[in-house]
Amino acid sequence: MKVAVIGAGYVGLTTAACLAHLGHEVVCADLDESRVAKLNTGEIPILEEGMPAIVEEGLTSRRLRFVVGAANAAAGADCIFICVATPQGDDGAADMKYVEAAAREIAPVLAPGSVVINKSTMPVGSSRFVQRILDESGPALDRVTVASNPEFLREGQAVRDFLNPDRIVIGCDDPAAAVRVSELYSGLRAPVLVTDPASAEMIKYASNAFLATKISFINAIANLCEAVDADVREVALGMGYDRRIGFEFLKPGPGYGGSCFPKDSAALLHTAQVNGYSFDLLEGVIEVNRKQYEHMVNKITQGAGGSLNGAVIGVWGLTFKSDTDDLRDSPSMLISERLLNAGAIVQAYDPAGADKAKQMLPGLEIRTDAYDAATGADVVAVLTEWDEFRWLDFDRLRGLVSKPVIVDARNLLDPAAMRRRGFQYSGVGR
Ligand code: UDX
Ligand code: UDX
Repeated sequence: MKVAVIGAGYVGLTTAACLAHLGHEVVCADLDESRVAKLNTGEIPILEEGMPAIVEEGLTSRRLRFVVGAANAAAGADCIFICVATPQGDDGAADMKYVEAAAREIAPVLAPGSVVINKSTMPVGSSRFVQRILDESGPALDRVTVASNPEFLREGQAVRDFLNPDRIVIGCDDPAAAVRVSELYSGLRAPVLVTDPASAEMIKYASNAFLATKISFINAIANLCEAVDADVREVALGMGYDRRIGFEFLKPGPGYGGSCFPKDSAALLHTAQVNGYSFDLLEGVIEVNRKQYEHMVNKITQGAGGSLNGAVIGVWGLTFKSDTDDLRDSPSMLISERLLNAGAIVQAYDPAGADKAKQMLPGLEIRTDAYDAATGADVVAVLTEWDEFRWLDFDRLRGLVSKPVIVDARNLLDPAAMRRRGFQYSGVGR
């Protein structure tokens, strides 16, 4: 099929490259000219496992190309994916201005019978919203259908998630258009759920809110474990064997972050509010998450002897999780900002996100590796779970720090091994 993808970010690029891999003819548009130029030479602007190879494959086979401008991609396409950003607005709701702009731009060039597919996370009612914009902006578009087909892609493993989905959700009132969307994925083995647009849109928010709930739940249990001297990792293991609960998303940490969970939970809360439902549970989830950042700042403050003013903190990891370069709503960045505001000197190292982090938080002192970040530190704080932090020479580390204190917000290190080397170690919930 001829496919257009509007937006070449984490979601759009993955969608475009994977659909080309599945045999479709894909044109991917972005308004960022330099991004498009780089992509056409195979240069990948984001860190994503497997992406360079799959983009290269698409460019070589000529099934994948990149253009500037949504209309240039959408003209003549059978299916048009909208994958532009939907950032959080001031009131918590998802800001639809980029979606609206993309819809207005493509409307005049859409072929009759084509399907416009909302892939970005958009609030309930967005399929109707996009349909209305297309109707307003395009000529006689009654034969263009809008469908919702939400993404469930984890950054860092987005290519794998796209090609091995747990399910494919298609929300569309027109059965023929829904079948057309499902045919895009005919090379994949996964259950396809065809439903109405509002339910599809809700499935996305409910899924992310549920996963966020699991994380806040285990973080709350972790805090309780600290009070009663239990080990949350044992607790999560014991819970996970119950198949009704499962092992996934029960890792305590500094709170969830990233481009989706914080934004999507706020947007769902906003949807509840405007519809007169008081979603106390979700409010609690968000509040537990906010407090978890604070809890980490408190642990670091205690580790520094009660005051951060003038304290040197070695921060390991800045991205919102490992294996990505994404800093959006990163707990580590929020915590680092708090440390800086309290007068600390923050020496940070991150394998992928350091340059962008420095632009966002100029007060950070960026260091070249984990040892360098820890040199002269009063506290070393492990804030992102990059694997390389596990395999360091901790005897060497012991000789570099000013005080042997480790706050491990990801439970990445072995407490007994750290204590044996003379470190004062504090994890999460153990
Ligand atoms: C975004 C949303 O944040 C997420 O909630 C949703 O599920 C998918 O879309 P992401 O792909 O990570 O996620 O966003 P981003 O990396 O910012 O990519 C958006 C791309 O769209 C950028 O490259 C931007 O230049 C481009 N864009 C944006 C357009 O091409 N046109 C626009 O009008 C706006
Ligand atoms: C998420 C969804 O998982 C994915 O389906 C899609 O909707 C986009 O949003 P992503 O934001 O890439 O993906 O990251 P994810 O792996 O889900 O982690 C989100 C946050 O939760 C991270 O900050 C991570 O560190 C945290 N997390 C995750 C935990 O603290 N504990 C866990 O057990 C799992």
